[in-house]
Amino acid sequence: MVRMDEMLKIETSRLLLRDFLPEDFEALFAAVQDPDYQQFYTEEETTREFWEALFARMLDAATAEDRQVYQVAICLPEGELIGNCGVRLEDKKNRQASFGCAIGRQYWGQGYALEACSAIIDYGFAHLPIHRVYAETNRENSRARRLAERLGMRLEGILQQQKYFRGRWWDTAVYAVLEEEWREADK
Ligand SMILES: CC(C)(COP(=O)(O)OP(=O)(O)OC[C@H]1O[C@@H](n2cnc3c(N)ncnc32)[C@H](O)[C@@H]1OP(=O)(O)O)[C@@H](O)C(=O)NCCC(=O)NCCS
Repeated sequence: MVRMDEMLKIETSRLLLRDFLPEDFEALFAAVQDPDYQQFYTEEETTREFWEALFARMLDAATAEDRQVYQVAICLPEGELIGNCGVRLEDKKNRQASFGCAIGRQYWGQGYALEACSAIIDYGFAHLPIHRVYAETNRENSRARRLAERLGMRLEGILQQQKYFRGRWWDTAVYAVLEEEWREADK
């Protein structure tokens, strides 16, 4: 369980990013119950069971001894939870971290994802030994791709027909940014 005094909190101009608390589950799950949100995910990835397991891992990761995952709740200043984003050091030896973000449908198109992601990537580079941050997204997920580009990530390549679900093959776009590129862009 995350202790309130140890809880990660990052304030941006319009948002509060913070560690998850057990009582956040319903709000997190509600944010992903939308057909526009779900169109690029497998049916399994939209189930309650899947999200319960993911949420349990998020809570565990926040209290790990040697913390390697900063997967946080994105909240409005009044407290409403509107999504989540995170950086995860997947390969410590090679200093490679993955990154992802999801926002509730009603909050799309307002720059909240960009604001939250920029802050969590900054935090990740500052607190984890990351050399490269990458994001993998469905090639047809144009909002996610625009977000990666606005964050200054490079398109590294397209993985052809990498996933099969909902009766067809889907390509994956891989984006990444190196530590030096991120710092340079920040100047
Ligand atoms: C991917 C996702 C997080 C992107 O959300 P988003 O709201 O499109 O992204 P942003 O918060 O950066 O908003 C960008 C839009 O807000 C507009 N905007 C409005 N005010 C803004 C501001 N103050 N600052 C920046 N952009 C602003 C931008 O012009 C842009 O508009 P556009 O969509 O017409 O180009 C969202 O679509 C989502 O949760 N999808 C489902 C989950 C998913 O697929 N995640 C990606 C896998 S990694």
